[in-house]
Amino acid sequence: MGKTTTAINLAASIAQAGERVLLVDMDAQANASHGLGVRVQPGQPSVFEVLLGEATLASVGRTCPVPNLHLIPASPDMAGASVMLPFLDRREFRLKDALEREKDFAAQFGFVFIDCPPSLGLLTVNSLVAADRVIIPVQSEYYALEGLAQLMSTIAAVRDRLNPGLRIAGLVLTMMNARTSLGKQVEQELRTHFPHLTYRIVVPRNIRLAEAPSHGLPVSMLDPTCPGSDAYFDLALEVISNG
Ligand SMILES: Nc1ncnc2c1ncn2[C@@H]1O[C@H](COP(=O)(O)OP(=O)(O)O)[C@@H](O)[C@H]1O
Ligand SMILES: [Mg+2]
Repeated sequence: MGKTTTAINLAASIAQAGERVLLVDMDAQANASHGLGVRVQPGQPSVFEVLLGEATLASVGRTCPVPNLHLIPASPDMAGASVMLPFLDRREFRLKDALEREKDFAAQFGFVFIDCPPSLGLLTVNSLVAADRVIIPVQSEYYALEGLAQLMSTIAAVRDRLNPGLRIAGLVLTMMNARTSLGKQVEQELRTHFPHLTYRIVVPRNIRLAEAPSHGLPVSMLDPTCPGSDAYFDLALEVISNG
């Protein structure tokens, strides 16, 4: 939990800091696209047609309300259509191959973020194969730490078999309720186990972060001074400075 919120608001904060940023929505729920006010109409191409080799990233890409932020949208049609993916050549490499085929397009962007679906299907595998780093949001609740171990071994499996350069950029604690001792406990445990991987910034539980997608805006454009905006802006600085 917290993937799409982090993808949207981190990408937007880095774009607002002046970098050109590309956000690729790989989830058939299209939450990242909708959260930035972009809806793919029936019959229009999405990232899925790019994966099929039927459209280019450049032709599918959209602008959104955030200057410097370009979006490759997902479409709800993808859910059914993704049964086709297993039958394609180089089925794990479709997104990576598209980014490489369109080097000139991709080279315009200083950062490319990919918002992953919740399950480990081919859309997620394509995302992990195309990426060189993974940012993992960790919800500040007890069971999140168990899920984290599972996810890290999945990432290691993808690295060993398909993408030797893949590494974890960092773990970001999110939905933190600082008033509960459980939150503090999860933070302490995370920092003890992963002292170098855990970002210094913790994203608080903030209602504005949950409201922003219904306005089709990142939180920074809905309420630039709320705690959620501050946290994602600071996280952006931390991500940029870690290189
Ligand atoms: N820091 C936060 N504070 C309050 N609500 C949040 C926060 N982060 C995420 N949410 C909400 O929690 C839900 C799940 O978050 P989301 O980012 O969509 O997770 P995922 O993409 O991993 O499924 C969404 O309704 C979102 O608005
Ligand atoms: Mg999501």
